[in-house]
Amino acid sequence: MAAEAQPARGQWSSRLTFVLAATGSAVGLGNIWKFPYMAGEQGGALFVLIYLICVLCIGIPLLMAEVLMGRRGGHNLVASMRALGKEAGARGPWPVMGWTMASCGVLILSFYSVIGGWTIAYILEMFRLHSDGLGAVSAASAFSELTGHPGRSLLWHTVFMLLTTVVVARGVRRGLEKAVQILMPLLLALLVFMVVYAASLEGFAQGVKHMFVADFDKFADPEAGRGIALAAIGQAFFSLSLGMGAIMIYGSYLPGAVSIPGAVLAVGLLDTLVALLAGLVIFPIVFSYGLALDSGPSLVFISMPVAFGIMPYGLLVGVLFFTLLLVAAWSSSISLLEPAVNLLHEKKILSRSLSAWAAGLLTWLLGIATVLSFNKWAFGFTFLGKSKENGIFDMLDILTSQIMLPVHGLLLGLFVFWVMKRSHCMEELNLGSGALFQTIYGVGRYLAPFAIILIIINSFLA
Ligand code: TRP
Repeated sequence: MAAEAQPARGQWSSRLTFVLAATGSAVGLGNIWKFPYMAGEQGGALFVLIYLICVLCIGIPLLMAEVLMGRRGGHNLVASMRALGKEAGARGPWPVMGWTMASCGVLILSFYSVIGGWTIAYILEMFRLHSDGLGAVSAASAFSELTGHPGRSLLWHTVFMLLTTVVVARGVRRGLEKAVQILMPLLLALLVFMVVYAASLEGFAQGVKHMFVADFDKFADPEAGRGIALAAIGQAFFSLSLGMGAIMIYGSYLPGAVSIPGAVLAVGLLDTLVALLAGLVIFPIVFSYGLALDSGPSLVFISMPVAFGIMPYGLLVGVLFFTLLLVAAWSSSISLLEPAVNLLHEKKILSRSLSAWAAGLLTWLLGIATVLSFNKWAFGFTFLGKSKENGIFDMLDILTSQIMLPVHGLLLGLFVFWVMKRSHCMEELNLGSGALFQTIYGVGRYLAPFAIILIIINSFLA
């Protein structure tokens, strides 16, 4: 089935290209912006530990499942679900999941683009901040000036959506492959440089301790303890781009001969490495300059400029840092829009380019709610013991990362490891039937769904 569909749809040129594109999708604002502030807010090492366990035991097997479904399905999300369901002899409304996954991408992109827009604003902001001489206070006021003015945020949100839509309209593989090939290694090099800088700060030890020495007493507080596990699994899904069809679509462009497990493992490891490095940069700065750990989404935008204001060549490093953050965000945002666009196009609703502009426009409109969440529409609420200040933005984030992604992930896992034939799964993973396959299959069949259900029940019902 996959073989018939593929020639018309094109393929990645090699396994490396797939790994780069999937890494480009996975490594993004989730690693550098979101992971540190979630870890700060959720109390540090315990969150990091649960996050790592979630990536390894739930994330990686389900990521394999998602790629496998994409490649075997070989179509857009809805048609793939239908074809796979038919092949497995399953009834059930599986194709509906194609629509809900594509919609989830649009919802995520609506707020992701606003943050992506801030990274563009910050590239320019670096020059201004630098000439003013920069301390923690002026970095904080620069941030509130940007986010407090709906007009400024809206402008940069618009620019970021244009960047994303233009690429998706022209087809992902033209240009994107090349950009990712150059920019991903550069991003890694810059992060390593920043870690070396952070290691020279007096707050480094405290930062490392915050990330790696777990305080198990946190679990004793039942309210906070529950929130941590859900936040960690949500973050694992978000960071791996898991559970909304982005990786499934990328998988549908994967040639039949490529081994899925090795490629997925590489993506998962790179993604985790970047998140940990980002934490190792940001926490020492936070401790050294007495910034607030639980400052939420503003963390990176305030703590990093403080460091750039002090270090030698800070302006240059600052501009590079935010440029690379932008690139990381860009290669991810494309994968958020792609499934919806591919669906509109292959369903013959609109042409490829009109599909991209229609989905881009819808996302842009939805994004206005996030722009306003930091000023006019800001309101606070409490979710599982953590207080949130940015109304609709926080709600969208929780709805997508902590609810839609884990639930989709659970369903994907159940589909591959329970509904699909074991022999088909074995054929796609191409590991033979030995211990490695047995382990992945066992983890995907029993441990992963059990853990997701447990975390969801524990969070909402217990
Ligand atoms: N993983 C990306 C990040 O960490 C964001 C992202 C891209 C994403 N595609 C996704 C998240 C699909 C969830 C689902 O920034």
